[in-house]
Amino acid sequence: MDLYGRSLLKESDLTPEEFLYLVELASRCRSEKRIGFLRHRLAGRSIALIFEKTSTRTRSAFEVAAHDEGGHVTYLGPDDSQLGRKESIADTARVLGRMFDGIEYRGYAQEDVETLARCSGVPVWNGLTDSWHPTQMLADILTMRDHAGKPLSEVCYCYLGDGRNNTANSLLATGALLGLDVRICAPAALQPSAAVRDIAAALARRSGARLTVTDDVGPAVRGADFVYTDVWLSMGEPPDKWDERINLLLPYQVNAAVLAATGNVNVKFMHCLPALHDRRTEIGQQIYAKRGIEGLEVTDEVFESAASIVFDQAENRMHTIKATMVATIPPIGLER
Ligand code: CP
Ligand code: NVA
Repeated sequence: MDLYGRSLLKESDLTPEEFLYLVELASRCRSEKRIGFLRHRLAGRSIALIFEKTSTRTRSAFEVAAHDEGGHVTYLGPDDSQLGRKESIADTARVLGRMFDGIEYRGYAQEDVETLARCSGVPVWNGLTDSWHPTQMLADILTMRDHAGKPLSEVCYCYLGDGRNNTANSLLATGALLGLDVRICAPAALQPSAAVRDIAAALARRSGARLTVTDDVGPAVRGADFVYTDVWLSMGEPPDKWDERINLLLPYQVNAAVLAATGNVNVKFMHCLPALHDRRTEIGQQIYAKRGIEGLEVTDEVFESAASIVFDQAENRMHTIKATMVATIPPIGLER
């Protein structure tokens, strides 16, 4: 499979075969790393990591993956460059494209990452925008493949919570691309936009995916192999929305009763992280002081249970991001 020179901006940029090729390559990278076999496929390569929002996993994954493969990274945080303030995305792209062999971008508008890809002339990887989180999806599908105990094509997952954030959009599009049974369960005010549903429906027509968007938790989780949630207020959303969001989403919290309602004793819990599941964070403490609620999108009981595979997901970010970089940056001398 030749993906040299390609960008990863959203899931629908890939065919199902290309998506699964990256997952398979990541699985091989993981096996090789575990026996200490590192190939240095990015030797002599420089990679820019642009973060307009904060990150633990995505940044660390890109840095460690690039290092494992012999590449060099330059981190540009929210206040580290001229980007957006004194220099447009298009101009920045043309500068960075002259120096770097690939660019990771985490920001707000999807249009910004698309402009960066169009103008830089090098592969650009979307490390999260307000619309999509495609590198997360590669890790999530690898994790589901590991834990499903059945062919991926038979997998059913249900996402509960803010159904129109980046993670929910990407889960809908990814399941649609790969032909899975996907349920998005959220109150009417927080369900996926018509635009996202149209993209998913078009993918599903080709793949045979079964897509459900509902506000009814019981039927949504029934029979699910994986129950997935994400924070109720995403990066970039105003903190004064917390109260409204909690009121809307408390009925969609993932707790022991929700896992039991799947009827599947082997159900697994997934979360892209970071998660608010206890009082050991600033936000967790503030919300507890104001509302007396300890866990938000997931209870501590579920987060810490044997069903929880969230740290496998987190580790898989690194292997899948490594696969994405080595698959899309052409070997030296084979640039197009
Ligand atoms: N899941 C994820 O993208 O985590 P970070 O925000 O820590 O990168
Ligand atoms: N929806 C979350 C995902 C974090 C990885 C956010 O955008 O903050």
